[in-house]
Amino acid sequence: MFFKTLSGRFLLLSFIFVMIAEVLLFVPSVSNFRLGYLQERLELAQLASLALLATPDDMVAPELANELLKNAEVLNIVLRRDEVRELVLAMPITKPISQTFDLRDPGFFGPIRDAIACAVGEPGNVIRVIGQPVKNAGIQIEIVLNEAPVKTAMLEYSRNVFFLSLIVSLVTGLLLFLALQALITRPITRVISSMMKFRNDPEDASNVIEPNAAISELREAETALHDMQMQLISSLRQKERLASLGGAVSKVSHDLRNILTTTQILADRLEISDDPKVQKMAPKLLVSLSRGINLCEQTLTFGKADEPEPEIKEVNLKAIVDDVIENDLLRDTGEKVQLISTVSHDTKVAADPEQMFRVLTNLIRNARQAIEGTGKLGVVSVSATQLDEGVDIIVRDSGPGLPEKAREFLFKPFQGGARRGGTGLGLAIAAELVRGHGGVLELIETSEAGTSFRIYLPDSKK
Ligand SMILES: Nc1ncnc2c1ncn2[C@@H]1O[C@H](COP(=O)(O)OP(=O)(O)OP(=O)(O)O)[C@@H](O)[C@H]1O
Ligand SMILES: [Mg+2]
Repeated sequence: MFFKTLSGRFLLLSFIFVMIAEVLLFVPSVSNFRLGYLQERLELAQLASLALLATPDDMVAPELANELLKNAEVLNIVLRRDEVRELVLAMPITKPISQTFDLRDPGFFGPIRDAIACAVGEPGNVIRVIGQPVKNAGIQIEIVLNEAPVKTAMLEYSRNVFFLSLIVSLVTGLLLFLALQALITRPITRVISSMMKFRNDPEDASNVIEPNAAISELREAETALHDMQMQLISSLRQKERLASLGGAVSKVSHDLRNILTTTQILADRLEISDDPKVQKMAPKLLVSLSRGINLCEQTLTFGKADEPEPEIKEVNLKAIVDDVIENDLLRDTGEKVQLISTVSHDTKVAADPEQMFRVLTNLIRNARQAIEGTGKLGVVSVSATQLDEGVDIIVRDSGPGLPEKAREFLFKPFQGGARRGGTGLGLAIAAELVRGHGGVLELIETSEAGTSFRIYLPDSKK
């Protein structure tokens, strides 16, 4: 199980790789060891022969000769001087010489092959070695020796190197494992645990990861996760807000309808008032109330966030615009805003009059509120142009222009509101209603000199 984890795999792989590297070094180093061993024998043999050459007649007692040969661990020594070969010291050899090795120019692969053959070959062979221990001294030495001690020393050396490699691999593997733990595994585990916590409770902002990994790729992953979690939280909140608002709207619509119905009955009585002003206002009040009641009923019937399909018919645009302006004028307290319509009396549009009333009311009310916010006088004008296949309606004002936030989130419900007391729904509702007609609501221009919105309505819904 452990070796299935990232750290486990890394530990195992680094151990294997270091071992492979060690093995690649191991074979040449054992071969070198064997060459060194044989070279040492040659040097000892040369020393022994020097002892012999120091005597007057190049002869020593047989006991001393044996002693010298034993010391050098060889069976006989032959000196070759100026191509003259002379047997200097010799012991009886029980077996024939199986192989001769020349150490004067061993090459690279030859000794490796010989070392392997020695390691796996039969023990007890007798070999001859030729060499020149002291370079360019004119003396060449040949020795004959048993291969068994060479093999024993070589195997012992191999064992030592093997255990050393094992320790080096383990230590390297362990160090890499610890480094990997600190640099990669721990940050990845942190990302995973943050993902799991977030999955279990996506609304809890404390489960959002704080990017702090030292490795840049991991930090990028953490940052991407952080951004994704934040976006998800905000859209969840938005959805939650919309859902609870939907519930609240249904309840409010229900009771508001009842209240408005009662008010409508009371307003009916105003028509029989003696006051001519009241008599004039009463029909408008009744129309407004019935609009309110209709809206409540539609909301309750559809019970969803989308607006109902428009009931499109050919209507006189001027009548609707005048109606909107008249209604809006009722709220003008300071008479700071002048409302003008240049829509001609014969402009016809294919629209749902109630919905068009709401679209224009929202646009004109926004314009009025923006002008009133400046405390200066201003004008809001509505004009219309008949096109080949539709009508362009322009609502222009001399207000202060859209604030940055409203421009950024134009037509987005709740997000674009930049006015105190506003909900940020007006433009979103207007855009949705126009879209329902197969038309377009767009911002044409906005600056300190004023703002213009364009409503395009096609002749028939496409
Ligand atoms: N003609 C305009 N001139 C300047 N700013 C405007 C104009 N129309 C809209 N705005 C800005 O755009 C924002 C969004 O308008 P929107 O009608 O969607 O929401 P609201 O007016 O804030 O609230 P409500 O939902 O009550 O209409 C407003 O808060 C206002 O700051
Ligand atoms: Mg508004």
